[in-house]
Amino acid sequence: MTRAERGELQQYLAEQVRVVDRAIEECVPRENVAPESIHRAMRYSLFAGGKRIRPILAIAAARAVSDSPDGIEQAACALELVHTYSLIHDDLPALDNDDLRRGRPTCHKVFGEAIAILAGDALLTLAFEVLGRLCTTAPEQKIRLVEELARAAGTVGGMIGGQVNDLEGEGKRPTARLLESIHRAKTGALLRASARMGGIYAGAAEDELEALSVYGEHVGLAFQIIDDVLDVEEPSEALGKTAGKDQAQQKVTFPAVYGLERSREMAEDERVAAHLALRIFDDRADRLRQIADFIVQRKT
Ligand code: IPE
Ligand code: IPE
Ligand code: MG
Ligand code: MG
Ligand code: MG
Repeated sequence: MTRAERGELQQYLAEQVRVVDRAIEECVPRENVAPESIHRAMRYSLFAGGKRIRPILAIAAARAVSDSPDGIEQAACALELVHTYSLIHDDLPALDNDDLRRGRPTCHKVFGEAIAILAGDALLTLAFEVLGRLCTTAPEQKIRLVEELARAAGTVGGMIGGQVNDLEGEGKRPTARLLESIHRAKTGALLRASARMGGIYAGAAEDELEALSVYGEHVGLAFQIIDDVLDVEEPSEALGKTAGKDQAQQKVTFPAVYGLERSREMAEDERVAAHLALRIFDDRADRLRQIADFIVQRKT
């Protein structure tokens, strides 16, 4: 990527963050709505400056399929609600026990554990309310979106299943098999669902949806490989979360199994495979191609 292309992509991403943030702003109760404490906690974690990569993926996938997928940002923001819930719970003392997230003290540090747990629950529930309320989608499409998101967040190959294996894997001898199954589930499933939900929303044909699925699997795995690498390579100030946590907690990670250099090569292989998966699409999928590059080249 040339410097000019990188600048153009940064601009696109910044604009998409604004689009997604506007949609989130509209769907989450204001801080002055009772009970105020939980709405403050939900908004505190939501508006702390995440990359919004999941909703942006959904929007870009929808645009690869259709020129004007009106209202896609509403469906896309459901993904960010589920993701933010997963971060709040991931940081709890019973899970990763983290003090820093998105450059701020974690939700439970500010609001206490009980409200943080409930804020996570509330974001998860709200995500499905948002999908239920979509006004531009046919009922059977809504059902597919609900099923897609629920499955990706769930226990069988989904986010929660991956979190369970991640926690139970602490201190275990890290094997390649365990590693890949953790990463595909805890992070990959929601990224895959992001690409698929964009496609479903825009009315993708069978072969397009299959291509988006394969693309999503590859960028999903690449995303968590790089998350593991950055945990080793970057300082907490750059990450906005505690660096070096994985080794301290003896997590099963790519650097632990393969070392940093090989981990980066493997992420690069996933990036190339993600591009290959998009070969049936024309240049309308260029944003998806660039997002795959961004996921591997990012520093935070
Ligand atoms: C961090 O996700 C947690 C993982 C699943 C790896 P992101 O890196 O997308 O975090 P934000 O949303 O930008 O804060
Ligand atoms: C988190 O993985 C995956 C989630 C489902 C939230 P990590 O525990 O590696 O995420 P970070 O590094 O704390 O963001
Ligand atoms: Mg974790
Ligand atoms: Mg964590
Ligand atoms: Mg991590």
